Amino acid sequence: MSVEKVFGPPGSGKTTYLLTMVQQELAAGVHPTHVGYFAFTRKAATEARDRAIQKFPELNGDLDFPWFRTLHSLAYRCLGIGTKDMMSPQHYAEFAKEAGIELAVELGEEEFAIKADHPILNEVNIARIKGKDLRQHYNDSKMEIEWHHFEYVDRAYRHYKETHGLLDFTDLLERVVDEPDRLPRLKALIIDEAQDLSKLNGDSCANSSSAPRRPISQGMTTRRSTPGRAQMSTVSSH
Ligand SMILES: Nc1ncnc2c1ncn2[C@@H]1O[C@H](COP(=O)(O)OP(=O)(O)O)[C@@H](O)[C@H]1O
Ligand SMILES: [Mg+2]
Repeated sequence: MSVEKVFGPPGSGKTTYLLTMVQQELAAGVHPTHVGYFAFTRKAATEARDRAIQKFPELNGDLDFPWFRTLHSLAYRCLGIGTKDMMSPQHYAEFAKEAGIELAVELGEEEFAIKADHPILNEVNIARIKGKDLRQHYNDSKMEIEWHHFEYVDRAYRHYKETHGLLDFTDLLERVVDEPDRLPRLKALIIDEAQDLSKLNGDSCANSSSAPRRPISQGMTTRRSTPGRAQMSTVSSH
């Protein structure tokens, strides 16, 4: 399996790039019903589907893209994970109280699309999504927070989720990627808006999308550079 991660702030061309990946798969003979394109929110999933239908007018929008949907609906269907298994605003509030930290919770348009905004949790998330060692990421981020406090919040958060048997967005993403046997037999699996980190650091990892694809040609690393536009970058691994 080759995995490619695409990073870039909103509007930098991630969805466009991921749809180009879909195009490459179709051109290589993959049937559209074997392409999974998942997003966290219904809005993003619908946008991708609409753009795919526009991009591939020869295909039947209703029949040919059954796996362009929310990650949540995929997890629900195939892994039996439902809203009750996800960290809710109440859970975040309880965790914050127990850990003695202040945490802002953002309600998405959907019940499960919740994001907790906390400087440490945000950085922990970036490290997880990038597959980076936490201590290394902490050192690189040059935060003005003591390591022992940083580590404490990370540990407390993991402990809370474990104790209550709850998952957050990144866990959900990892579950989907880690349990390919329980997913539909897809030849390409794309996850758009893997995590919306747009408010964190306005730099290259501000927003990420993953295209874990299997079993696909060569991973590649490309950089799109358009003057005046924020850059998107991709990271590949096998
Ligand atoms: N290489 C490119 N050159 C010029 N415009 C682009 C390019 N890639 C994407 N765009 C345009 O930029 C806008 C945002 O692209 P999109 O792929 O939706 O970004 P993201 O998913 O990163 O938010 C779209 O209108 C798209 O058509
Ligand atoms: Mg997008």
